[in-house]
Order: sequence, then C-alpha cells, then structure tokens
Amino acid sequence: MENRKLELEKETFTRIDLVYRCLADKKRTESFRKAIEKIVKPDDIVVDLGTGTGILALFAARAGAKKVYAIEISNTVAKSAYEIIKRNGYEDIIEVIVGDASKVKIPKKVNVVISEMLTTGLIDEDQIIVLNSLWDRDIVDNNTIFLPKRIDTYAELVQSDFDLYGFDMKMIRHEYPWLTNTFALPLTSKILLDSIDLTSKVDEKAEYSVNFISQENSIANSIRLSSIIYLTTNHYLKSTSFLNAPVIIPIKTTRINKNEVKTVEISYKMGAGFQEFKIFSYKNEEYIKAKKYLIYSLNKLRKDNSTIINHNPSINVSKQQNQLREYDPNRFVIGLNTIGCSYALNKKTACFHCGQLVDKIHDKEILKWFFNDIDTFIKSGSEKLFVCTNGSWFDEKEISLDIRSQILDKVLKLKNCRELILETRPECVNDAGINQLKKLIKNGIKIKVGLSLDSLSYEIRDLCINKPIPIITYVQSCEKLYTAGIEVCTYILFKPPFLTELEAIEESIKTINYVLDINESLISLEPITLQDFTLQKMLEDINRFRVPWNWSIREIIYNTKQLDRLSIGGNFFIPKPKKIISNCSKCDNLFQKAYQEFNKNKNAGMINLTKITCDCIVNWKKELIKDEKNILNRVLSLM
Ligand SMILES: C[S@@+](CC[C@H](N)C(=O)[O-])C[C@H]1O[C@@H](n2cnc3c(N)ncnc32)[C@H](O)[C@@H]1O
Ligand code: SF4
Ligand SMILES: [Zn+2]
Repeated sequence: MENRKLELEKETFTRIDLVYRCLADKKRTESFRKAIEKIVKPDDIVVDLGTGTGILALFAARAGAKKVYAIEISNTVAKSAYEIIKRNGYEDIIEVIVGDASKVKIPKKVNVVISEMLTTGLIDEDQIIVLNSLWDRDIVDNNTIFLPKRIDTYAELVQSDFDLYGFDMKMIRHEYPWLTNTFALPLTSKILLDSIDLTSKVDEKAEYSVNFISQENSIANSIRLSSIIYLTTNHYLKSTSFLNAPVIIPIKTTRINKNEVKTVEISYKMGAGFQEFKIFSYKNEEYIKAKKYLIYSLNKLRKDNSTIINHNPSINVSKQQNQLREYDPNRFVIGLNTIGCSYALNKKTACFHCGQLVDKIHDKEILKWFFNDIDTFIKSGSEKLFVCTNGSWFDEKEISLDIRSQILDKVLKLKNCRELILETRPECVNDAGINQLKKLIKNGIKIKVGLSLDSLSYEIRDLCINKPIPIITYVQSCEKLYTAGIEVCTYILFKPPFLTELEAIEESIKTINYVLDINESLISLEPITLQDFTLQKMLEDINRFRVPWNWSIREIIYNTKQLDRLSIGGNFFIPKPKKIISNCSKCDNLFQKAYQEFNKNKNAGMINLTKITCDCIVNWKKELIKDEKNILNRVLSLM
C-alpha cells in the first residue's frame, strides 16, 4: 500500500493541473455546490477529504459551516489550496491539513463528510480506505451526513476497437467524453454490479459474478464499467468531463451468439488500483439452460390450463374492499380490464410470479367499463382514484394514448377527484404518457405512479422473476416522473422464488435502503402471494417454496433506514391467491392489523408490531439459514 501511495504522490493527483481539471469540470463542481448548499447548515463541522483546489471546502464555508477541515495528501496541492483559501478570506474557518486523510489527526468529531476521491467502481483512489478509517477512529457516527451518499457501478459487455496506428493496443482505458472515436459498441444491457452505501463502513473487497446475455451475434472483447453517484435525494450524477469516465477492461476475445450467456467474474480491492484487478470470463451454458427450463415449465403450466384466459372480470373495488396495494387504504379502485400485460403476452418474457395474464376482451370496451364504474366513484365521496389496468398504464400496446386521454379528460371533470393513482413497468414511462398527465397536475390533481423494481439484484430479477428490466431504466423513469411533478411508489417484491427466507430478508432490506437513498419515492413492500400459474406455486407443489413469514416483515422494518416512506403492500390480488404471507393461525391476524396500523401511522404500527409474540417464532428462526448452493444451482437441481 505504501508503494501505491508513493506512486500516487509522484504520478497522479499531485499534479496541480489534475485538480484544476476537476475544478474546471463545471457539471461536476456545480453539482457538488448545489448539494453542499442544500446540506451544510450554520454551525456544522465539516471535513473535506482530498480537498484538491479547496473548492468544496470553500462551498461549505460559504454555506455557513462553523469549521471545515480540508485534508490533502499532496504538499504542492495543499499549499496552493491554502493560498486560495486565504486569498478568499476563509482561513479562519477552513483549516488545511496536509497528509493522508486515512491517518492524519482530525481535531474534532465532524457532522458532515464531503469526499470526492471518486473513480469508476472505486477502483483507483482512496475513497473507501479513507471513509472506513473515519468509522474506525470514531470521527463519524450514524448521525453524520455524507456527500456523496451512494455510488452505483454498472457493467456491460462491449466490443472495443483496440486497433491503433496498425498495432493491437488492447489495454485498460477510460472513455473520456471528448474522445468519441474510442467509444466501444455495447453488446448487452447494463447490469448493476454493485450499489455502495457510502454512509456506512464498506467491505473493501469487491467480488462480482455477472451473467451477460448477448442481444446479437457478435465478438466480445471487453467490459465497460460506469458509475453514477448520488449526492442527495433525487440528485445523481453520471460521468462528467473528468468524474467517473467509463472504463474499458479487456477480456478474452470470443465470438458470442445471440442469447448466449457470458459470465464475467471480477475481483479487486477498492483503492488498490488496477494492479490487483482480476477478471475472468467464460461461456455459461448452464445459465441459459436453467432460464429456458423455467420459461418452458411456466409456459406449459399456463398453456395447459385454459382457464387463465378470460379470468379477469371488470372489477369495481369499492372503498371498503379496497386493499389493493395497501399503501393508501382510502382510495377507490377501478379495475380496467385491459388486454393483459404485454410483458406477459409475449410468452418469452412473462413474469414468473404474476398470475396477471391474458384477456380476450377488446381494447375499445375499456372505456365502457370505466364510464360505468366512475359513477360509483362519484357517489363514494372518495378523493383518491386508482385506475388499475391488467398491466401497465403507460404501455401503448395495452392501452392506447387515445383511450387514456378520454379517461383522463373524464377524471379532470370530476369534482371529487384530488388524486389519481396509476401503475406501470418502468420501461414504459415515456414523454407522451407523461405529457397527458400534465393538465391534471395543472388543475391541482396529484398523480401517483406505482413502479415495479422488485429487487436490486439482476440475477434475482432475471432468473427468479424473469423481469430483467435494467435498474438504470427504473432510475431514469423515476427522474422523468419527478421532473413532471408526479409522485412515485416503488414496489419491492418480498421473497422471490428460489430465495431462502434469510436471503429474501437481506435482499429486501438492501433494495428498500437503496430506494430510500436515491430518490423520494414511497415504497410498497409486496410479500409474494401464491397464485395459480406462477413459479412459486409450481415450487410449492414440490415442497420447494413456502409463502413468506410475517416475522420477516417485522425484521425488514427493523432494519430499514427510514420508515416514513415505507408501507406493507396488500394481499388482495386478482386472481385470488391460494395463500398469502403467513406465520400461523394464532398470530397472522395480529400482523395484518399491525400492517394496516403501520401504513396509517408508523409509530403506532411499530409499537403493535413489536408487541406481537407467538410460539411460531421458533419455527421461523429455524428457517433463517444460508443455502450453500447459488441460485443457478438451485434452478438446475430442479431439472
Ligand atoms: C479527484 S481530486 C478532487 C479534488 C477536490 N475535492 C474537488 O472536488 O475538486 C482528489 C484529491 O484527493 C487527494 N487525495 C487522494 N488520496 C488522498 C488521501 N489518502 N488523503 C488525502 N488526500 C488524498 C488528491 O491529491 C486530490 O487532490
Ligand atoms: S408482474 Fe407486472 S410486468 Fe410482470 S407479467 Fe405481471 S403485470 Fe406484467
Ligand atoms: Zn404464530
């Protein structure tokens, strides 16, 4: 590590022009300025780790901080920062400390940590080493505010042109935005490799195994890593001129056919640079075999049972009955019998966990039902209307813009409607659909859109749910909706098939905390139900699945960073589930009541949840085991 420090001192960030480039990178620096001005309050004690030119320390001081410790490892850079700070009259507030921020003495406990020693994937630079050292030295605690607060790293398989000047120049390189001629060709979608919470201690060892499915016949020779940082809620920053330029990492050149899977294994130590970076790739026939087997089994199950067609009569869920996605129990639900989820209509892509399949009814009849049901809504006196389709409101293939427009015109004329709730898959959200909603917003009607995210893990979304919508699509859809003034509620699926109870708990906690960090969305935790024609039902029939335990929901709630945006989703679904979340007949009702209370009032709900006791907790604890086999092997063991 010392060698590495020396190298850093000699070669990279000591060079004054490098920190100047960061300063001159307006997009990056302005983003930090806005975030600092939002976060830093008078009387704050701030530390700026790796201060460089001192610019972030200056922003913090100008925002009113009582004291700012600006730490810089390079003598030359620190000297220049000190002079700048003095010239601008902030020398009483900002104290420049020269040295390694993971070691130098920081005089006081701080309540705001600013750190911009960021590199793509946190491979280079000391960001994590330094942040971890603050925890080890008790300089920060759970009340400390960190900026940035999270970093996501994505990976994709690419084809890069390394042929330069007649030589094969295959090497690790960055893709700077001004060198457009070097951009590699993407071969797969971007998969989230990791989302790192910078507000707590981080494991410096990074180990990932990603399965890329090729969209075309092609030659793959590299992966591209790219990072996004989250400064404050709803404020993220992709790569800018100098921050987090995507990095191209060569792998063994291989031909890869459409729908073939290539597994890439990556390991490195954060902050140790590319010296310790290891990458290994191979064609993974097992993965595609497992996926094909699941798709085949589900399609067979669904085809063999024709009752699935036409299962869904037009529903009018009255105010009393309406527990459909319970994050707000006071709403009135009109179930529109649209043609079915286009995702499910395509046999190759139907979600494994959803009983919401195809209906024969024609598009045009949708309006007739809507106008029938709307009278009941008017009479109900409810102010919140949930127009629930058989899939996604924003999907043109399921419900045309024209039909949507007629529905929205009617809603606009209603005297009692103050809030309209819709649901959609993230990738359907588009400008045309959003623009239609704007006139309602202008007229004071609040719009809420439920978006399914399910799980942060690509492998779970792909193999256990069959819904590999990229996380980045969810992130961008949320941004689009928020920009238009639309509120989002994110659905997280608790206990996808093939996960043990313990893994499902951990996955939901991770996903909830991710959403809490990156945007302002409400969150509905949706315990999986047991409906016919689903993977979980198929697994239950052979004793390989149990509906989730209520104890687990309590455990998740206990481990959630912030409760005010979380609700426990409903268990009213069409078609009616065979089983829903359950502990035992003695305590299930207590949990259901506590959830309803929790959704209305977090504190009262928490008190009730904490009070519940029952002997069945012993059986739940017995199930909290780790399974040595990975998810892929669990699927393969079925075949
Ligand atoms: C990417 S530059 C950013 C500079 C400045 N924070 C800004 O935003 O403009 C990172 C800075 O951190 C410094 N640095 C790197 N490792 C460090 C360490 N272990 N302790 C203190 N400073 C460090 C580098 O010398 C460099 O000035
Ligand atoms: S879960 Fe949603 S996306 Fe999946 S098939 Fe059902 S309605 Fe469609
Ligand atoms: Zn019980």
